Amino acid sequence: MRLFLTMLAFAMLGGSALASGAEVYEKHCASCHHRERWGLTGPPLLPEYFGPKKDADIIAAISEGIPATNMPAFKGKLSPDELREVAAFVRTKTAVPVWSAFEMLSTRKMADAAGPSKKGGYDMEEFFMVVEGGTGRVHFMDGRSFTVLDSVKAGAIHGGPKFDNELKNAYMVSRDGWVVKYDLEALREAGRIRAGVSARNIAISADGRHMAVASLLPEALVILDTETLKPVRSLSMGALSAVYSLKGRARFLAAFKDRAELALINQDFEASTIEIDQPLTDFFIEPSERYVIGTSREGGRITVVDLEEGRVVKSLKSKVRMPHLASAALWRANGSVYAAFPHIGEAAVSVMELYSWEMKKTVKTKGPGFFARAHEYAPHIWVDTNTDTIQLIDKKTFEVVGEVTPEPGKKAMHIEFTKEGSFALVSIWEDDGAVVVYDSRSLKPVKSLPFKKPVGKYNAFNKKS
Ligand code: HEC
Repeated sequence: MRLFLTMLAFAMLGGSALASGAEVYEKHCASCHHRERWGLTGPPLLPEYFGPKKDADIIAAISEGIPATNMPAFKGKLSPDELREVAAFVRTKTAVPVWSAFEMLSTRKMADAAGPSKKGGYDMEEFFMVVEGGTGRVHFMDGRSFTVLDSVKAGAIHGGPKFDNELKNAYMVSRDGWVVKYDLEALREAGRIRAGVSARNIAISADGRHMAVASLLPEALVILDTETLKPVRSLSMGALSAVYSLKGRARFLAAFKDRAELALINQDFEASTIEIDQPLTDFFIEPSERYVIGTSREGGRITVVDLEEGRVVKSLKSKVRMPHLASAALWRANGSVYAAFPHIGEAAVSVMELYSWEMKKTVKTKGPGFFARAHEYAPHIWVDTNTDTIQLIDKKTFEVVGEVTPEPGKKAMHIEFTKEGSFALVSIWEDDGAVVVYDSRSLKPVKSLPFKKPVGKYNAFNKKS
């Protein structure tokens, strides 16, 4: 009898293990994540969307569910084998989605122009967007009183949200391709459209009239009219790593994940390319917008591209691997301009002198951080360390000269300054997190505002496109 029961148990286990990931998906997931995994009420479940996310994290999301969302927990409903198989299945490639202007327009929703609007009249340059990772919401905060005025549901935000130059509207894109336009004067959502099935980031043209969306699925640079959010062009150029706007003749600059090229997009949305020495997946553009400083996924070398001359002017080996250039902090001191940037996975921050392109120093930090921030009128460079402590670097000597620990034991990440640099805002990156406001000179905390995992904060004046 006991033997028989054991055999039966084995047979049942074996049977469920045979249910392939695809079948489990069809039965339990397709209703929310789309038959082709392009996303419906749930996000797309595709390799392009997950990026470098760990398998263990995907399995955990399926097994435990995602609290306070519609993502159910499948522990108990699915066997451990089924969980593993469906997790492996969502990492496989799928058919490239058809996502033309027709599909985009079918998702477009504009607010009624005569609808309710709250009163504006705030100092627009002191506006903040606070992106909550915990809820997928973006909050709009007055940076004088530090009070939240409104918020919108935007989904998982990957690249930074953007303000237009006139500070009339803010824009954001979720990882599943939804572009949201927010009217900063009326303090309400102005409209939204799904520009792709999975997207990397957006850029707003200097004149505020167009938005470029780096869509990962399908692979395209989608140009939208910012007034109507209607698509005006879709440029197929391959897999993009990011798009940025430029003030000069070229409107947008795009870089590629796997191609050693940069693309410049002009007023007529025609692309011209610059050959470089490695694909740039992580980069910044210096303030004069002549040079792009970047690195590839391998992160072994730093490339400097001169956009005016259309060529690489410097290529240097990075002493510490994986420089995170997209989050570089820039400042003037000693008659030069410097950039400080962390290294992914390494407890170090490097300082580079711009225009001579010389590495000046590598500063050891408490841990491997993601962000460095500086402000013209704030005395220190603030760097996070993936610990509960933010370290402060002197602008002239590049030495660590201080630190702040907002809440011992809780991760402190990402720094943003107010318009005049008087205050530095630090995130407590926890589900029951906060934004802690510091006086940037006395280094005393002056306020703590509760947020659910506030992954990023963006000041309008500092972040104008
Ligand atoms: C009732 C709808 C629903 C069903 C059924 C469902 N999901 Fe989800 N799922 C969601 C939603 C909504 C989210 C996004 C939650 C959030 O806002 O973070 C999500 C998120 C996820 C994520 C995390 C994605 C990320 O951002 O990294 C994974 C992985 C996932 N689902 C897998 C599955 C799998 C596999 C199944 C089937 C076994 C499934 N889901 C069934 C609604 C659903």
